[in-house]
Amino acid sequence: MKILVIGSGGREHALAWRLARSPRVHKVYVAPGNGGTQTGQQLENVALSQPEELADFAQREGVALTVVGPEAPLAAGVVDVFRARGLKIFGPTRAAAQLESSKDYAKAFMIRHNIPTARYQTFTDPAQAHAYVDQEGAPIVIKADGLAAGKGVVVATTLQEAHDAIDAMLGDGSLGAAGARVVIEECLIGEEASFIVMVDGRNVLALATSQDHKRLRDGDEGPNTGGMGAYSPAPIVTPELHHRIMREIILPTVQGMAQDGIPYTGFLYAGLMIAPGDDPDRPIKTLEFNCRMGDPETQPIMMRVKSDLLDALEHAVEGTLDQADITWDRRSALGVVLAAANYPATPRTGDVISGLPADNDDCMVFHAATVAEDGQIKTSGGRVLCVTALGDSVRMARERAYQTVNAVHFDGRQYRSDIGWRALKPSQQKTKP
Ligand code: AMP
Ligand code: GLY
Repeated sequence: MKILVIGSGGREHALAWRLARSPRVHKVYVAPGNGGTQTGQQLENVALSQPEELADFAQREGVALTVVGPEAPLAAGVVDVFRARGLKIFGPTRAAAQLESSKDYAKAFMIRHNIPTARYQTFTDPAQAHAYVDQEGAPIVIKADGLAAGKGVVVATTLQEAHDAIDAMLGDGSLGAAGARVVIEECLIGEEASFIVMVDGRNVLALATSQDHKRLRDGDEGPNTGGMGAYSPAPIVTPELHHRIMREIILPTVQGMAQDGIPYTGFLYAGLMIAPGDDPDRPIKTLEFNCRMGDPETQPIMMRVKSDLLDALEHAVEGTLDQADITWDRRSALGVVLAAANYPATPRTGDVISGLPADNDDCMVFHAATVAEDGQIKTSGGRVLCVTALGDSVRMARERAYQTVNAVHFDGRQYRSDIGWRALKPSQQKTKP
């Protein structure tokens, strides 16, 4: 069977690698892919990105199933184009992808369906936005309404920062159309977790839990990034909290979308803020929805899949996810991102990467921004690699991952040396898969 994975990051490498393990899959095309998704045998890159071209390719090659990694093709309607031609694809339609592509849509949806989230208001007029911030005080969070490639959220600790963010988004148009509307919301405190599920319009299958590290530097300092590392499972999500998240957030979201006439299909990622403490009833609020898997969360999650991922995906596109299951490796997985010099502002490209190990079931180096050029693998963007390892504990997974990190080299590489610190806190014991 032939599979197509759309995207070019570490998430897509991990998805393609896992799908290639299915005994029923003999080819995984990755469009456009990267330096790690071109093995020549099972994985092959295809230099396409437009929805119509991708659909032509899938038809011509007899691709049985397509999986979409990133949000941009979803927001561009790739699922609508494939479905109109009767092609099987897993992802949300353009209308359903608004849960991620418009923060204002997502907030209004959550309020309408009683899904817990931070208090907010939406503005297009800078004067009104400034006045609201003055009235609410700092800390406060300013978000561009549209997709802004991870640059659209400012957690302002002072009023000045909040006013500057409003000026930058509504005033000078630095984020273009994405920033023409802003959501201003209450700043929540607590611990974040990534909760990712598969949805077929009606039924939900939860994936293993995970947590990522958004800040560039150790100790959660420095600028926000797309994610500098992640691990699975997330010890904070106890079985009790897992149950509550499904009941209070995930199921009402899936039911709410169906009620609104926009049934949700695809991966759904709820970014959560879990209030501090250990009261089992403490608030859990939704910070954001993503209409895709997380990157780098996907890398450790894919390392832990033991059953055939294709089975679950087939059920998902057939609307029979209630009959699907995924078995998870009981071990922990942890991934460390190696980023390019000057990431996240203006990452340098073209550095030669050396010391890449052969593929190994217990430690994989997933490529994110690499290209194969003149027989070498070179950096081609911000987050370059994600070294992901399994271990009997988070500590052991982390040791194995950092051993490989030490062996891989490129000039200017940046990485955090403390990935997984929250999971190593002594209070975290009981976990859900
Ligand atoms: P988002 O794209 O909405 O997830 O925002 C990116 C990051 O900003 C989140 O992962 C949080 O770290 C932070 N953030 C977003 N909204 C809030 C909020 N209401 N309170 C505190 N932090 C937030
Ligand atoms: N790692 C966070 C995200 O994928 O949005």
